[in-house]
Amino acid sequence: MPDANVETVRDPQPQRVLSGIQPSGVIHLGNYFGAIAQHMALQHEFPGECFYFIADYHALTTVRDAEALRSNVFDVALTYLACGLDPDKALLFRQSDIPEVTELTWLLATVTNMGLLERAVSFKDKAEAGIKRSTGLFFYPVLMAADILLYQSTMVPVGKDQIQHVEMTQDMATYFNEAYAKGAEQPLLRRPEYRLSKAPYVPGVDGRKMSKSYGNTLPLFASGKQLKKAVGAVVTDSTALGEPLTVEGNNVYALLELFCEADELAEIRGYFEAGRRGDDPFGYGHAKQLLAAKISEHFADARERREHYQAHPEEVEAVLQRSAERARAIARETLDACKRACGLL
Ligand code: ADP
Ligand code: TRP
Repeated sequence: MPDANVETVRDPQPQRVLSGIQPSGVIHLGNYFGAIAQHMALQHEFPGECFYFIADYHALTTVRDAEALRSNVFDVALTYLACGLDPDKALLFRQSDIPEVTELTWLLATVTNMGLLERAVSFKDKAEAGIKRSTGLFFYPVLMAADILLYQSTMVPVGKDQIQHVEMTQDMATYFNEAYAKGAEQPLLRRPEYRLSKAPYVPGVDGRKMSKSYGNTLPLFASGKQLKKAVGAVVTDSTALGEPLTVEGNNVYALLELFCEADELAEIRGYFEAGRRGDDPFGYGHAKQLLAAKISEHFADARERREHYQAHPEEVEAVLQRSAERARAIARETLDACKRACGLL
């Protein structure tokens, strides 16, 4: 029985985690260690709600094939469920199932200066990588801000490359609140904070940031020959077998680090520095074998769960739809409040 003399203080708005991932290709180790692993942990640790979504509107900036997009969306959903998303603890929905997000995007755009968007590093990086400079690509951070602000999110778990986008979101929330709710007791839109994982920057096989846009990724669920081939593509120097391997800036070592606790890592570092494991020489071939074994072992259970969901697409769809219903109810509340504040309702 609650003590009648103790007043329960209720937070009028619950704390909320939110993050999105683009269905623009096969999910990779960078996505997993930078984002998905902390998404999975937060659903058990966070004392509020967790909202995760598949950013299909964002993916249109790079994917031009309807079938590929549909299949990528399904693949991201499978990956989340395989990696342990518990539909009773967290939502998983398609961004485009909540069309309110595009409406809020427009409202935010009207209070956002060009200069803010012109400073976006990811636009420059993507344009340099050869992605079409569409106005959608330029506008990408406004849509991302709408994703976050629409659900009054308080924490956004992402990799390092997304920090600037979350900071831009904070600015957009402030502009909007100042324009339409200055001095109000409760802000119209809550300012979110980002949260980094323990591995906020995972290098790709070529040493640049691992990214679907750069074609330098390692997938989570490859096995056998396919995995061997993927790991074989990790770029190394030409140190001869048996010679010491430099650890700093070493792609294979940096990837091994993701999978090892301190003790095991110290042991592996010893092999690299000696160029030997016990009496045997230790070179890049051995290091890559070790990496392939780690990947295979780490995702073994997830691979099994993935097979289950692959065979039951209706279960995946049910999770997406149930989640969208809940998310949309909150989206409508925020959007209506914003529209009223602007004089649109
Ligand atoms: P990509 O760059 O491959 O298109 P996304 O932009 O869809 O990946 O990123 C989805 C999530 O994964 C984001 O939170 C992002 O910060 C994180 N992420 C992507 N690449 C990496 C990486 N190499 N290291 C750490 N986190 C990453
Ligand atoms: N821009 C993010 C990325 O490329 C994906 C994303 C879209 C996102 N909307 C978001 C991440 C909202 C966090 C919150 O990784």
